[in-house]
Amino acid sequence: MSKRVAVIGAGPSGLAQLRAFQSAAKAGADIPEIVCFEKQDNWGGLWNYTWRTGLDEYGEPVHCSMYRYLWSNGPKEGLEFADYSFEEHFGKQIASYPPRAVLFDYIQGRVEKADVRKWIRFRTPVRYVEWDAATSKFKVSSHDLINDKVKTEEFDNVVCCSGHFSTPNVPEFDGLDRFNGRVLHAHDFRDAVEFKDKDILIIGTSYSAEDIGSQCWKYGAKSITVSHRTAAMGYDWPDNWQEVPLLTKVEGNTCTFKDGTTKDVDAIILCTGYQHHFPFMAEDLKLHTANRLATADLYKGVAFVNNPALFYIGMQDQWFTFNMFDAQAWWARDVIMGRIALPDTAAMKADVEERVAREDANEDDYACIRYQGDYVKELIAETDYPSFDVDGANEAFFQWKKHKKKDIMTFRNNSYKSVITGTMAPVHHTPWKDALDDSLESYLEN
Ligand SMILES: Cc1cc2nc3c(=O)[nH]c(=O)nc-3n(C[C@H](O)[C@H](O)[C@H](O)COP(=O)(O)OP(=O)(O)OC[C@H]3O[C@@H](n4cnc5c(N)ncnc54)[C@H](O)[C@@H]3O)c2cc1C
Ligand SMILES: NC(=O)c1ccc[n+]([C@@H]2O[C@H](COP(=O)([O-])OP(=O)(O)OC[C@H]3O[C@@H](n4cnc5c(N)ncnc54)[C@H](OP(=O)(O)O)[C@@H]3O)[C@@H](O)[C@H]2O)c1
Repeated sequence: MSKRVAVIGAGPSGLAQLRAFQSAAKAGADIPEIVCFEKQDNWGGLWNYTWRTGLDEYGEPVHCSMYRYLWSNGPKEGLEFADYSFEEHFGKQIASYPPRAVLFDYIQGRVEKADVRKWIRFRTPVRYVEWDAATSKFKVSSHDLINDKVKTEEFDNVVCCSGHFSTPNVPEFDGLDRFNGRVLHAHDFRDAVEFKDKDILIIGTSYSAEDIGSQCWKYGAKSITVSHRTAAMGYDWPDNWQEVPLLTKVEGNTCTFKDGTTKDVDAIILCTGYQHHFPFMAEDLKLHTANRLATADLYKGVAFVNNPALFYIGMQDQWFTFNMFDAQAWWARDVIMGRIALPDTAAMKADVEERVAREDANEDDYACIRYQGDYVKELIAETDYPSFDVDGANEAFFQWKKHKKKDIMTFRNNSYKSVITGTMAPVHHTPWKDALDDSLESYLEN
């Protein structure tokens, strides 16, 4: 095949795309030439942990938003690759909430086996992507940082897998510029030990707020105060944890909230989410969407309606992650290889509208999980991605939500059944709150 395909990013989504093409080649298909551009020095995306924050050694924005003691916040049974089980990778079944290093190892195992590293140009950020109507090809400019060389090449398709949890959304609060402590966004949070014996204020109520607060609690923070804009998380928190309305002003170390109450704190952590940010895309190719299950402008959640030679993978808000990226990548591959035909623009736009309306009708998180599970089923039914028990994965998420409601500090001690191999995960040898050593070696001691 004479086609050339550019994949931007070698995180879980980009690696899913490489694996999708490799699996077609292995089955005897003639596949396009694949070039994957990755700005970091290794694969894994957010899972490629670094202590660095701000700018990296080349002056590039640090991509990593993960932190040192991060454990999976959902059960691994909801994200297992259908073509590469945890048991295949580790040689045994492992507990259900792996720490970051364990999941990184798992992600890496599949692509090492597939031998796709040779398709990746590391330390090569994409600087600009534009469409050339005259040639019906994309012009992709990338920067080889090691040799400091910028090059522009032509591609028939672009698959954008650059992630959307890396560019922080940073609101302003009155008095932050005069606060006598540390202010940071979750993107720059790395080590909870820094906040031992400190009073901390967290703004936001989603997963970063819940998990960074829990980490700080686990590693000995004196108190955790969580400030909400819309609604409190409402879990049964430990005694040194309180929920307050939105921060209105900061004076010295004193924070005042919307109900007039105050709290003196040593640090403020803004867990206020991220932006979909594609500075390297020409304006007519740029995805503008909120963080939701039905993204704007993507047919089947993948093909960019205004130019369907361009695909975006993993741009949805995420209950499902790795297996959903796989479903999307296999589907994009099949469009690129001419196995799936796209309808006309009007039909693609109607598909987006229908998905948005259906998401808006979801009444609770359970409905949202089913909605995204149905989406995964829909895509895999159209490709040769191995079918798996998506309803079983939904069930793991339902159980997870119930376990969190029951006790937010012990939910990670539960285990679930693999929908790929049918085996039950062991209970981890140490409760999460006492497991201060979360190295791969320690986690695998089960
Ligand atoms: C703090 C945190 C914790 C999370 N924990 C979990 C969890 O426990 N379980 C779970 O399933 N999911 C979790 N997630 C969700 C996460 O989004 C996915 O697991 C996954 O990392 C998304 O993969 P991705 O490839 O789409 O994006 P990313 O992992 O963000 O990878 C994108 C890649 O693109 C590269 N890139 C970006 N711009 C360019 C460019 N211009 N040129 C070249 N390369 C570029 C980046 O360097 C990066 O390698 C978490 C997210 C965050 C922020
Ligand atoms: N251990 C883990 O695995 C782990 C840990 C952390 C994060 N994650 C993942 O990271 C991703 C991102 O999660 P996230 O929590 O960072 O982002 P998010 O889910 O987008 O949530 C953003 C939060 O910021 C609040 N917010 C936004 N602007 C605000 C403002 N101006 N003032 C006050 N509050 C504001 C929102 O409040 P409203 O409700 O009012 O809009 C919301 O609570 C998720 O996929 C999550 O699963 C995983």
